[in-house]
Amino acid sequence: MGLEVPHVTGYLTQHFADDAYAGIDGYVGAGGYGALRRALDMAPGDVTELVKGAGLQGRGGAGFSTGTKWSFMPENSEKPKYLVCNADESEPGSFKDRILMERGPHQVLEGILIAAWATGAEKTFIYVRGEYALPAARLERAIAEAHEREFLGERICGKDFAHDVVLMRGAGAYICGEETGLLESLEGKKGQPRKKPPFPAQFGAFGMPTTVNNVETFSHVPHIVANGVEWFRGFGTEKSPGNTVFGVSGQVRRPGLFELPLGTPLDEIVFEHAGGPLEGRQVKGVIPGGMSMPILPANLLDVPMANEFLRERKTMLGTGGVVVMDDRTCMVRASCVIAYFFRDESCGQCTQCREGTGWIHKIVERIERGAGSSEDIEILQDITEKMEGQTICAFADAAAWPIQGMLRHFRDDFVEHVNRGKCPFPESFEL
Ligand SMILES: Cc1cc2nc3c(=O)[nH]c(=O)nc-3n(C[C@H](O)[C@H](O)[C@H](O)COP(=O)(O)O)c2cc1C
Ligand code: SF4
Repeated sequence: MGLEVPHVTGYLTQHFADDAYAGIDGYVGAGGYGALRRALDMAPGDVTELVKGAGLQGRGGAGFSTGTKWSFMPENSEKPKYLVCNADESEPGSFKDRILMERGPHQVLEGILIAAWATGAEKTFIYVRGEYALPAARLERAIAEAHEREFLGERICGKDFAHDVVLMRGAGAYICGEETGLLESLEGKKGQPRKKPPFPAQFGAFGMPTTVNNVETFSHVPHIVANGVEWFRGFGTEKSPGNTVFGVSGQVRRPGLFELPLGTPLDEIVFEHAGGPLEGRQVKGVIPGGMSMPILPANLLDVPMANEFLRERKTMLGTGGVVVMDDRTCMVRASCVIAYFFRDESCGQCTQCREGTGWIHKIVERIERGAGSSEDIEILQDITEKMEGQTICAFADAAAWPIQGMLRHFRDDFVEHVNRGKCPFPESFEL
């Protein structure tokens, strides 16, 4: 069964209640593929400039300027150029790409086609998380429908523009969401991230110049082309324009998806849109952007959800996956779950990551059991600092940051475990 329609909708999700929108008739009926026609009347470089001017930032986690990324693709390449749509969505707490694929697969395809025109790419590989059966099926159907209506194929919209889209299913590894791990997996190899440089724009899928963008990033593109830069900049903040789809999970009354402008305060998302904590409970902490982003305590939730503000509080927007924990939660147990995930998912190439994630889990688990010491807390902090910025990919940072956030804001939970020699939160979830 699919996800519910988002509780709050905007330009990305406004038609998602209409089942027909996932099919080509419903999509075209709502004005779909009009932006593609408009883009095809523009010079490719002008489309890239438009997206750059709109200030669209990638929604896959790193928040890099999409137009700038497109401009890295070589203009005159003897090799074929490719696009990759990153639909791996394996970050715990993130589930927005899923609904974008299930309910708006043609919106994703139209964004891909506009990007293909802008960058001169002849083929796109969509890499879908293995567990996402329905999103993959909806996309497959959309690809077939787009071929039938000549939105894909040799002469798209009757123009001298050819493009094809190939869908590939992953096999459930978080690291295959990292763009170069994804490229390796796409090529049939072990999903281990590549050293950079060379970057994908020079040496990407099968060695060809490649641009990798996230599902949501592509979904914004038709709206920018259809409505223009000023319109898009009317949503969000000056530095972070546009809407995004926040996925809220955890201990709230109304978990789910909410399409809201970037810069919406985190406390508004948690307390108003998601209905706040459950009966008789209080919010203890909130992870703002998927599990790899540092947690914020209840007194720091009055922050606009945009990187320029979140960075001041030593965290980031990530994927916009908001995870709410209430006052029953043991933050050492929560850290243990996080640490176990990263230990399990490390690809093992870099010593700091392979060993660091193992040590973090071992020490956090010891503290949770009541067998930890004060020194363990210091060692934990030290290990996380030694993992940052040292490795082939950002996974090691993603494993270190959430633990640093826990120690920054919930150190007392760790100290209490050490002092009492047991977990002081009997009502917390079980490990
Ligand atoms: C460990 C790790 C996992 C990632 N997983 C995903 C993912 O599931 N989906 C995604 O779009 N980006 C993921 N990323 C980010 C990608 O490497 C890449 O930055 C992104 O796909 C670029 O698209 P964007 O510019 O449109 O955001 C991950 C990065 C890391 C380090
Ligand atoms: S940081 Fe971790 S996941 Fe990334 S390449 Fe190194 S070992 Fe693999």
